[in-house]
Amino acid sequence: MTADQATDQVEAAGCPVAHGRPTVEFDHHFGAEGTQPEEAYRELREKCPVAWTEANGGHWVVTKHADVTQVFMDYGSFSSARTDPTGELSTLAIPPLPMKLNVPEEFDPPQFHPYRRLLNGVLSQKAVRDGLTERIRYWADWHIDQVIESGACDMVYDLASPMVGAVVLEWLGFPQEDWRRISQSFHDAVGYAPSDPRAQKAFGELAGFQEPRISEEIAIRQRELAEGRVRDDVMGFLVSQEIDGAPMTTEMAEGMVRLLIAGGVDTTASGSTSAFVHLYQHPEHRQALIEDPSLWDTAVDEFLRRYPPVLGHARTVVKPVTVGGYEMAPGERVLVSEASACWDADQFDRADEVVLDRTPNRHAAFGLGIHRCAGLHLARLMFRILVERVLERMPDYVVAEDQLHRYAEQSGMAGWTSVPATFTPGPRVLG
Ligand code: HEM
Repeated sequence: MTADQATDQVEAAGCPVAHGRPTVEFDHHFGAEGTQPEEAYRELREKCPVAWTEANGGHWVVTKHADVTQVFMDYGSFSSARTDPTGELSTLAIPPLPMKLNVPEEFDPPQFHPYRRLLNGVLSQKAVRDGLTERIRYWADWHIDQVIESGACDMVYDLASPMVGAVVLEWLGFPQEDWRRISQSFHDAVGYAPSDPRAQKAFGELAGFQEPRISEEIAIRQRELAEGRVRDDVMGFLVSQEIDGAPMTTEMAEGMVRLLIAGGVDTTASGSTSAFVHLYQHPEHRQALIEDPSLWDTAVDEFLRRYPPVLGHARTVVKPVTVGGYEMAPGERVLVSEASACWDADQFDRADEVVLDRTPNRHAAFGLGIHRCAGLHLARLMFRILVERVLERMPDYVVAEDQLHRYAEQSGMAGWTSVPATFTPGPRVLG
């Protein structure tokens, strides 16, 4: 499509065009109240699918499934690497955020590949299924056991968040005293407004976790390696690896561990919690999954498509490129919305509904292209086992809908801060 044709089309749909670009007043930081991401992205898809906004320093917004796919696949034109000259800011967010390096999410090829290969090995479908199914089931049952006799719990704070934290942090090799504190801090840091005391406390916890906890654990394994021992956990594995013939550096090992925690914990907890709320609101779906567990083969991805925990990531244009008829110039920033792609009715029939047996389902909740989520097999398995065990052990749970609150600021992530529920008490299963 030429720029003129694209302009005719968006003007006909009601999108203002300024300086040859569809230009919108759009800020992707959504409060818990007021216009929600789903509504705002729907409007963009319908009127201005590729648009420029002056908000947050000025950037493009890409919202249709086809265009989101193009941007994520074309890593030669759209870079994930840091462009901030101080190196202190992650440019995967708009505006850039002060953050330590996440490896390899913030690398482009060729630097990207050797790190990603290591993750592909430890997170392959087989490695996850054979190595982690029992641990996931154990930690799902253990967390349900802690509340099952009382008949009441918070499905975020008592189940999803600590259970996912236990699986991921145990697998990495962190001691148990870190698990709940860290997973809850990740949740509180994204779930509450930055000024909220819970978020403030979480920021403090997370700062201490980045430095010194991750460095201490990496240093322990490096000392063991120097003595000829490799500890049997993922941190032990990573520090023992070579990259392009040289030993893994401390900075890169820490950057990978940091990303595995930040990328794995609250994303999976948010996704499963959204499924808990949906299944309360749609008893017919709850019943269908109880009666026919084979539906789980498609249901997990459909829940993630309908309730994507990740709303968007940024890229930086590094060479002239055309998207949806509009030329983007090097240096320009692009917000690419995985969530909006998931909701695109041109890609998905009945896009607003949860269709438990939807297939095919080329959703974008895990991203697309070379940076597509390295942990998706682990995420799917944790999600499925946790929700399945809740349906088996507390099938009549009732969510206190009047106490549901969305994340206070939904920009990169979305979800429920807390999901209080009651149910008929039952017996523990782990003794
Ligand atoms: C439902 C849960 C999850 C969702 C929705 C999710 C979503 C995503 C998305 C959208 C990306 C792409 C980022 C980009 O393009 O810049 C990504 C990357 C990544 N995720 Fe996940 N994720 C989930 C769970 C996990 C888990 C459990 C782990 C591991 C413990 C994990 C580890 C990673 C890593 C390492 C990357 C970076 C991959 C790369 O740059 O090559 N994620 N995830």
